[in-house]
Amino acid sequence: MKKRILSVALAAVLALSLTLAGCGSSDGGEKQGGNGKLVGVAMPTQSSERWIKDGRNMKAQLEALGYEVFLQYAEDDVQVQLAQIETMIAKKVDCLVVASVDSSALINALQTAKEEGVPVISYDRLLMNTDAVSYYASFDNEGVGRKIGEYIEEKAGLADAAEPQTIEFFMGSPDDNNAVLLYKGVMSVLQKYLDDGTLVCKSGRTSFEDTCILRWSQEVALQNCENYLSGFYADEKLDICCSAFDGFAYGIKAALEAAGYTEEDWPIITGQDAEVMAVKNIIDGKQTATIFKNTELLAEKCTGMVDAVIEGSEPEINDTETYDNGKMVVPSYLCEPLSLDKDNYRELVIDSGYYKEEEIQNAK
Ligand code: BGC
Repeated sequence: MKKRILSVALAAVLALSLTLAGCGSSDGGEKQGGNGKLVGVAMPTQSSERWIKDGRNMKAQLEALGYEVFLQYAEDDVQVQLAQIETMIAKKVDCLVVASVDSSALINALQTAKEEGVPVISYDRLLMNTDAVSYYASFDNEGVGRKIGEYIEEKAGLADAAEPQTIEFFMGSPDDNNAVLLYKGVMSVLQKYLDDGTLVCKSGRTSFEDTCILRWSQEVALQNCENYLSGFYADEKLDICCSAFDGFAYGIKAALEAAGYTEEDWPIITGQDAEVMAVKNIIDGKQTATIFKNTELLAEKCTGMVDAVIEGSEPEINDTETYDNGKMVVPSYLCEPLSLDKDNYRELVIDSGYYKEEEIQNAK
């Protein structure tokens, strides 16, 4: 009898704590689902602003639905992320959301998740060579590259250029499928101009292998840019820096300033993520463009996937063909990337409420 009273009491405490977890949701309102179920969210790094925002968005949106969230950052360390995911599985999370550092290191851990019945959602970066993934929420990653290429084509007037222009490439991490697709998108636009001599890459580094930068390192982008400038551009200016990431654009900016480039001969510099610092640099004329990826929308789509796998319903999907990870074609929702520059930044990120004007002014 005593035992029964105890278990009833325990159940009541548990129910109360689950209710409290639900009430802790950011909207403070009635929880819609979730029931305090636990979602593990593994993010790659806090070294770049976008992932901090992604983590914050995911946590807030999941909590608003009544989920508990265990959010971890791996600071770009492959083994740390592996350990974090193993811990999440050991904690018996009800769903795993992973934005990987290097997904090849996670194959066995994801297999374990699958065997233990833990659904896995791939966030922004595709989890490769595993059949343990239920869904993928991302952007059109080849589209990101295509938009970068088209921006350069238009801005540099390549279609009717009177004389050749010089260009160097700064591409993403080789262990990130997004970087490979981005390169493909860039070259779908720019390769023909390299072939016909409209674009001249004096370092000769145009392949993905020669231009990729491990773990998207800003420091390596800076060093590469310094080496290009001193090795190949002593007599002729560099006109275009085709950069795949805002972090690279910051490194490139530092290298150009050190080499004496000024407003008069500042090259076209692209980027990706529309970080506040990048938007500030765009306003100041130190970066030309970036790609705006609405990570609030991405988190919304991903949260819908989490809810669906846990509740046993169908999430919103808009692509069932593109993302083959080597083991399966992962059903995806792809958000649309948009080019952002001085002319449209206000409309895209200020008027929409995505950033406050002060955030951009105060960026450092
Ligand atoms: C993301 C980009 C980001 C890059 C570096 C990629 O996987 O898609 O938005 O700029 O990682 O963090």
